[in-house]
Amino acid sequence: MTDPLWHKSGTRIDARIMRFLGQDDVILDREFFLHDIAASHAHVEGLASIGVVNASEAQALTRELAALADDFNSGVFVLDERFEDGHSAIEARLTERLGDAGRKVHTGRSRNDQVLVATRLWLKERLASLIEHCRAIASVCLERAACESLPLPGYTHLQRAVVSSTAMWFAGFAESFIDDATRARDTLAWIDANPLGTAAGYGVNLKLDREHTTRALGFARMQVNPVAAQLSRGKFEIAVLEAFGSALLDLRRLAWDLSLFTTVEFNFVSLPPQYTTGSSIMPNKRNPDVVELLRASYASVAAARTEIEQLLSLPSGYQRDLQFSKGSIFHGVRHGLGALELVPDLLAHLQWNESAMRAAIEPQMYATDAAIEQAASGVPFRDAYRAAAEEAAAAGQGRTPEQSLAARVSPGAHADLRLDELRQRLDALSA
Ligand code: ARG
Repeated sequence: MTDPLWHKSGTRIDARIMRFLGQDDVILDREFFLHDIAASHAHVEGLASIGVVNASEAQALTRELAALADDFNSGVFVLDERFEDGHSAIEARLTERLGDAGRKVHTGRSRNDQVLVATRLWLKERLASLIEHCRAIASVCLERAACESLPLPGYTHLQRAVVSSTAMWFAGFAESFIDDATRARDTLAWIDANPLGTAAGYGVNLKLDREHTTRALGFARMQVNPVAAQLSRGKFEIAVLEAFGSALLDLRRLAWDLSLFTTVEFNFVSLPPQYTTGSSIMPNKRNPDVVELLRASYASVAAARTEIEQLLSLPSGYQRDLQFSKGSIFHGVRHGLGALELVPDLLAHLQWNESAMRAAIEPQMYATDAAIEQAASGVPFRDAYRAAAEEAAAAGQGRTPEQSLAARVSPGAHADLRLDELRQRLDALSA
């Protein structure tokens, strides 16, 4: 390993202890190495604006940072255990190429604000992807809700309850994923603050150009107080995982529906064949493995959130414990995005089995309609309810799912789905 940045004469470096300190940290740093480089670039510009590096040094540093990004992207530069972490690798490379100018780059910054800013940029991008995935899912759901409408049994307690429809099912998930996209957008705005320039967590005796780095890195605002910047590590990761969790919880329930609806017993839905797998022993099987892993993905997000929450039992200021938050956030977010990106295509291609859905609608499922009709004509609801309960099957005779659905005029329900309202909310998210 290259000499650690903090190594001073007189301290002995023990390889085993270094391994423990680093663990897989340097490998994890690959994930946001480009963001670390981008933040280093902004920092160099900030140093130039206050005269800590001169114009030609700033130019050389900028050039070498760009070259490092290119080499990293092309695989010419590999971020590995030769370095204690990605932050050290940047300084080592600049120093190797530029000598003193490289040795100046860490003026007024600490790895503590470096890791914060790299993580923050990475989180912002991932939230933007989350918003896009939720919008794409909502959009497919809205399209299908608008152009098809088959009767679907509605369940409560997994017992047949009332007639529902595929349109209401799709519109329900559309609205839920619009809510999730909205939450992700609000979370993005919440974390959109620049921690660079807070140094180790207490500021520095230099008039750093934090306004410049904030603008250059595309942040909405500066994270003002250095102590607050350190307090946000882990806390912002949790907020992001909660935004993911919201979408993944909806996905878990959607996947549950699909795994149930694809059983022979229900047989309401067929998945596109590429979303199913075979069994290694049972030649007759097609299994909905993809849907099951979509359902399971929430667990990774929730576990990541819990792990970070456990780490945060800390006093204020930087503590090395926080390093462990990186693996969790990367893992949770990767699982979340990996699941969500499959959903629009899956939903666009799933096929309803109309005859099975109709066959599962039994006359008793009109009893609520019958009771409410009576109540609407003046009979006290409780009396109408009892009458319909006694003759639930009779109450349903002669009724059709179409009639029931056409009469479901309460706002938002089948006969008044208000897809335009949902569409407007969806469109507003792209503004
Ligand atoms: N790998 C470290 C982390 O993720 C970077 C910051 C190191 N700072 C320090 N003071 N040792 O937290």
